[in-house]
Amino acid sequence: MTLEEACDCLADPVSTGEELSRLVRDELARTGTDLNALREQAWTEAYIHLPNAFDVAGLPATPEDFLPLPDAEGTLLARASSITAIATLGLDTVSYGSENDGELFVNLVIIPGDGYVPEKSRSSMHGHTDAVSFPVRGQFDSEEVRIAPSPDFVCLSGLRNPTNAATTVMPLSQILPQLTEGQIAELKKPQFIIRAQGTFRDGTQRILGEEHQVDGGELLFDVNGQLWVRFSHSSAGADDEEGAAADAVEAFANACKTCATGVAIAPGDILLVNNRIGLHGRTTVDGEAGGESRWLLRTYGLDTSGLNAEQRYEDSVHKLFP
Ligand SMILES: [Fe+2]
Repeated sequence: MTLEEACDCLADPVSTGEELSRLVRDELARTGTDLNALREQAWTEAYIHLPNAFDVAGLPATPEDFLPLPDAEGTLLARASSITAIATLGLDTVSYGSENDGELFVNLVIIPGDGYVPEKSRSSMHGHTDAVSFPVRGQFDSEEVRIAPSPDFVCLSGLRNPTNAATTVMPLSQILPQLTEGQIAELKKPQFIIRAQGTFRDGTQRILGEEHQVDGGELLFDVNGQLWVRFSHSSAGADDEEGAAADAVEAFANACKTCATGVAIAPGDILLVNNRIGLHGRTTVDGEAGGESRWLLRTYGLDTSGLNAEQRYEDSVHKLFP
C-alpha cells in the first residue's frame, strides 16, 4: 500500500477499524485473551496504557498548531493504531464538527506565541472530561436533541515526548470515596452551569448560533449500576458561589487533586482514557515549539450504536453534530 492509499483508508475509520481490529481479535484469540474481559476492563479502569503500540518512523518536525496533521509514516501508524485500539473495544473513532473543523485527529503540541491558546498549550491542566458540555451517552441536551454525546474515550498517541511530560488521570473510583453521600447527591442534581471548553467555543457558536452552554446540568449520572462523570474545573460549576452545590463542586475538585496518576506517553505509546469514569489533565510542558518538541495525536472513541441520524453529518462517517 502506498502512503497515499493508506491515508485514504484513514478517511474511513469505520471500515478501517473493522478490518484492522479483526486482526487484533484473531491475535487475542490465539494468545487466549478474552476479548469481552478486555472490554470490561476498559469500563472498570479509568485508563488503559498500551506501551509500544506502534513504530514511530519517519516523522517531520513537530507541527506548531492543532492542524494540519502531516501525512507521514509515523503519524499514519499512530492513527491506524489508535483507530484499531478503539475498534477493538467495540467503539467508533469520532470527531465533532464544532472542534478543529471536525478533523478526526489533531496535534497536541506547544503552540508558539502569547495569548490564551499558546499559554494553554504549555500550562498544566486540571482534571476534566472532554466535550464536557455535551450530554453523556444515552441522554440528550435539553434544548438541542441533535447534539451528539461526548466521547466514551479520549485516545492519545505519542510521537515525541522529550521531557517526559505526564498526562494525568484521576479515576472516579478514587475520587468518590472522598465525598460524603450528601455531596454525591448534590452532584447528581440538574443544577450546574457547564460551558463549552475552549476548543468548542467558536465551533458551537458558528453551528448552533451561540456558544454551547448547559444551564441546569448534572455532573454525576447513574448509568447501568455505575456512576459516570462530566467535569471541568474551569468550565463547570454551581450557579451560586455559596451553598450545598458549590460545596460539593469544591469537594470534588479537591478530591481530584489527591488522586492524579501521571503517565508519560512515550513515542509509540497509546493511552486510552475512559471519559465516563476518569478525568484527565496534564503537567506543564517545557521546551520551545516545533523541532523535536512534544507531539501527541488525539482522537475520540464512542459507542455510536444508539446515535440518531441527525446527530451526524451526512457527508462524513466520523463527524458528529455539532
Ligand atoms: Fe482533554
